[in-house]
Amino acid sequence: MLSVDKVSVSIEGVRVLRKVSCDIVARKTTVLIGRNGAGKTTTLRAIMGLIPRDEGSIRLDSDDLARMPAHTRARAGIGYAPEDRRLIPELSVEENIRLPALALNLDKAEIARRLDEIYMLLPELHVMRSRPAGGVSGGQGKMVALGRALTVARKVLLLDEPFQGLAPALALEYARTLGELRKHRPELALLITESSPVLLDRIADRTLQIERGEILVPSNQG
Ligand SMILES: Nc1ncnc2c1ncn2[C@@H]1O[C@H](COP(=O)(O)OP(=O)(O)O)[C@@H](O)[C@H]1O
Ligand SMILES: [Mg+2]
Repeated sequence: MLSVDKVSVSIEGVRVLRKVSCDIVARKTTVLIGRNGAGKTTTLRAIMGLIPRDEGSIRLDSDDLARMPAHTRARAGIGYAPEDRRLIPELSVEENIRLPALALNLDKAEIARRLDEIYMLLPELHVMRSRPAGGVSGGQGKMVALGRALTVARKVLLLDEPFQGLAPALALEYARTLGELRKHRPELALLITESSPVLLDRIADRTLQIERGEILVPSNQG
């Protein structure tokens, strides 16, 4: 499905990704583990076209993503929840979730269908849908960012350290939601980054490890 092949990235002249290769497979949850600064966020940003590559290719099915400008990648069906959430604080929770639908040119019925599905998976978002996104807690903001990514994710969902900073109750809730998501959208290819494998052990089909910009030999292939 999503194939990252020997991608290298430099930031301000320093190599931060070295020939990163990984396949993100439909129906599988791939977990990318690495400590702070290992290159997890840079890997996701490279996939989203938010940072230029020195070399390597990124393909989604038969499409070369490198030839696709960042703003059209959403149309390719890749949803992305950045670690820093990036919500628009003045807009309501629901407006934030609906935002990508504008870029995607979805009709009203399709937007309503996707919103229903998101609220079914994340009922707490329905409860706070009218609140300004700037007024929700950091943990709730992670849920909103997940909802927004789900508006887009037809094929691939990228979640950058979704559990980081979540209170234990919210972390459990988030993990439960990912389990539900797997049931309702079995076809999705999921890539989740984390600094520790503990929370994701149960939902990971495959675990990759990244260290200093390099992917180590996979520890379990599923
Ligand atoms: N905006 C930036 N300016 C300079 N260096 C950066 C920037 N963003 C990331 N880096 C460097 O790139 C490396 C990888 O960072 P990142 O992908 O954010 O790691 P992770 O998400 O695994 O914590 C780190 O060594 C970090 O210092
Ligand atoms: Mg990061």
